[in-house]
Amino acid sequence: MSDKRFAVAIDGPAGAGKSTIAKAVAARCGFVYVDTGAIYRTVGLAVRRAGADPHDAAAVAPLLPGLEIRFDYSPDGSQRMYLNGEDVSGAIRSPEMSMYASAVSALPAVRAFLLDMQREAAKVHSVVMDGRDIGTVVLPRADLKVFLTASREARARRRLAELAAKGDGSTFEQVAADMAKRDHDDASRAAAPLRAAEDAVTVDTSCMTLEESIAAVYDLVRQRMGEKSGS
Ligand code: DC
Repeated sequence: MSDKRFAVAIDGPAGAGKSTIAKAVAARCGFVYVDTGAIYRTVGLAVRRAGADPHDAAAVAPLLPGLEIRFDYSPDGSQRMYLNGEDVSGAIRSPEMSMYASAVSALPAVRAFLLDMQREAAKVHSVVMDGRDIGTVVLPRADLKVFLTASREARARRRLAELAAKGDGSTFEQVAADMAKRDHDDASRAAAPLRAAEDAVTVDTSCMTLEESIAAVYDLVRQRMGEKSGS
């Protein structure tokens, strides 16, 4: 019996283009795009609002049962995040929330709290899910795992352009320093550190345009879908 659902896991460091590429590939394939970083950011925002230290497991864990986190999609395919009924999709996108998200994501209680929510999405739909541990922990049996990376300089340049478009006045040096810290923290934490799954295909987008990166991942999906339907 064949299972028609298809799961694509895309992991990689901050600024490698995961969200943009995952979203475009999902749209091309007619799959649902799940941005798991946005879910961690929403927890980060809740912790910030509660005035708790995001590194302190004893302060963060008691907050979790009181959080109702949901997501849905705009007509253009963008994921919208809701915290206790409030649309926080814009509020989670600041450099400060990047740091809060990275800090809370190192806490095993937070990772456990969010695991089912992420897995549920892939039970119902064919998905392209992006994050740091999708291929290693969340969807270890994903049909295709992609590790999307790029040089730190290329990633910082892209993130700077994204922030500038939103009117944020961060400098290249600030963005590069934040990125270096997040790379280090995300990869060195004990709980589900960022790393490529053994069976992941690595795609380095440093010298690719966005269109080329989307095409490269889309081609991998098409190829793997062909193999799956033939098996
Ligand atoms: O992809 P992003 O920048 O929105 O992610 C924000 C932070 O959340 C990132 O620093 C690491 C964390 N994260 C994680 O630990 N696991 C995921 N699956 C997704 C994000």
